[in-house]
Amino acid sequence: MTMSHKPRVLVTIPMFAEVLTALAERFEVDAPCGTATPIDWTADSLAARAQGAAGLLVAGSPRIDAALLAAAPSLRAVCSMAVGHNNIDLPACTAAGVLVSNAPDVLTETTADFGFALMMATARRIAESEHFLRAGRWTHWAYDMFAGADVHGATLGVLGMGRIGQAIARRGALGFGMPVIYHNRSRLDGAIEQQLGARWVDKATLLREADHLVIVVPYSPASHHLVAAADLALMKPSATLTNIARGGVVDDAALAQALRARTIAAAGLDVFEGEPSVHPDLLTVPNVVMTPHIASASLRTRRAMADLAAANLAAALSGQQPPTALNP
Ligand code: DGY
Repeated sequence: MTMSHKPRVLVTIPMFAEVLTALAERFEVDAPCGTATPIDWTADSLAARAQGAAGLLVAGSPRIDAALLAAAPSLRAVCSMAVGHNNIDLPACTAAGVLVSNAPDVLTETTADFGFALMMATARRIAESEHFLRAGRWTHWAYDMFAGADVHGATLGVLGMGRIGQAIARRGALGFGMPVIYHNRSRLDGAIEQQLGARWVDKATLLREADHLVIVVPYSPASHHLVAAADLALMKPSATLTNIARGGVVDDAALAQALRARTIAAAGLDVFEGEPSVHPDLLTVPNVVMTPHIASASLRTRRAMADLAAANLAAALSGQQPPTALNP
């Protein structure tokens, strides 16, 4: 029997068969999820499995922190196939000499498509009316049946004007004639603002003026509950809120309350605090459209994200800088 001298990589998530095959050309691949069986990792089970691994391929979970790095000192690379990397303690990885990469750009347009679709479904009450029809409750036409809010020509508010925020703004401005206002810690270059027809405003103005607010900020301690009860109270009763960022950016309990009291009209949520759990109050309000964190989930894009993570892993473990490195 010959011993493998390939570095071992642990793939912590279900993965495309083709990507596993490609990885196996360079690495000893440990893929306990195979292509279809997610594992609910605990800190202990992950630490045990990561023993001796040189690389990890992850997504928006599991959590990679100092304790894991201490338990798996052979780790040299953590490569995520997500763009959001709040599950990875970047300073701890840097201190331990572990290269970290994420998967930006390849998902921008697909995620913006979904954000726009969710915003439209929310404004036009598509999910609510579909449930009504399936329940056999459609008996007649009425002028106000599921009458929602227009999207075209309405003011689009974008909270977080990174790549995905800009792609959403472009859809709104060019495709739907929407005046675009945005709030971001740093203002865009004037030329880009002009190209997008987007105007920077402070957060309170954004909340007050947006007809449709789309949230696209990365999660960090600084953005925790960036939209809380007092912020929701600034919004128009006719406004919608769509969150495709991360759950913790919005206070879900406060949002459920605002939806129930109709101090805002409706919400579209692809991400949740503590997901895959969903705040029980959200499950009982009708004016919210909810999806299970699938904004980047077109097959082509998910494959591009996985390929990019695999390319990062190959580079990192052969001593090169990963194409989309987040450190050192
Ligand atoms: C991302 O890439 O961050 C998406 O939200 C999937 O986790």
